Amino acid sequence: MNHQRVIWAAARLALESSQKKNRRNGSSGIRYWASFEKALGLFVWLLRIAGLHKKGIQNAINIKCEHHSVAFDSLPEAFHKFRILHLTDLHIDGNPLMLDPLLKQISKLEYDICLITGDFRFGTHGSIAGVIEPLKTLIENIKAPFGIHATLGNHDSQAMVPVFEEMGINMLVNESVKIKKDGDEIVLTGIDDVHYYYTDNAIHAMEQSPEGFKIALVHSPEMFDVAADNHYSLYLCGHTHAGQICLPGGKPVFKHLYTGKNLTKGFWKLNGLTGYTSAGCGTSGIPIRFNCEGEITLFTLLN
Ligand SMILES: [Fe+2]
Repeated sequence: MNHQRVIWAAARLALESSQKKNRRNGSSGIRYWASFEKALGLFVWLLRIAGLHKKGIQNAINIKCEHHSVAFDSLPEAFHKFRILHLTDLHIDGNPLMLDPLLKQISKLEYDICLITGDFRFGTHGSIAGVIEPLKTLIENIKAPFGIHATLGNHDSQAMVPVFEEMGINMLVNESVKIKKDGDEIVLTGIDDVHYYYTDNAIHAMEQSPEGFKIALVHSPEMFDVAADNHYSLYLCGHTHAGQICLPGGKPVFKHLYTGKNLTKGFWKLNGLTGYTSAGCGTSGIPIRFNCEGEITLFTLLN
């Protein structure tokens, strides 16, 4: 592990142990996830009484594939028709019923690169052991010639980074990597989660990235303004699950965002930046969705 990674891992571990949320505006707050889960337990009880529990579970494994073509004047020519498979919020140890439908959807697709924007784990703390086997199965089924690149979410631990890299995932922890193709290149910058674990290194990584056509991988949309200020072209994220449990019509009951509260779902724009907030594959809290399908997303870049 390089020197910067060692420092980052120690700082992240301290934040994980503190049970506090480290927010970008300088404040911190207690993580109330355990209380939120208790409230969800009551919701599940009500669903059982109403006869809707099984329907919610079935909804959660009906993962759709969204196909989007996105045009950029600044895209290098060699990356015209470059295909990105975007996965997020796998929460892969939370619902064993989800993996087969997910693999089935992925098996239908052809893509050049796979980008994963965090939340591998169901819980927000504790062992990472339950993630490893299902994630290995998933990785074995992803055929991406330009690799699998990922960053962490607020449900994830610093302990995942070396384990996932051993599996073949290129983890980006406030780091950038150049993807080269036929003499052209694009830049990927992966930012550590800023919803629970913000540090100024998140901003520095965006400010210090190489120039060129830049894609930001961030767990949540909460760095939208920094990415726009630093001339990123595309920002891929998840975190919101598009609400996961929504009112009829898809209106979220919970957003879990401090900033960018209107960036809950789908495409958004800010100056020259195109952002996309995916509904994600998995679920958190409870393995249930209503009025809000899970998704994997295939982007085709055009110039
Ligand atoms: Fe999530």
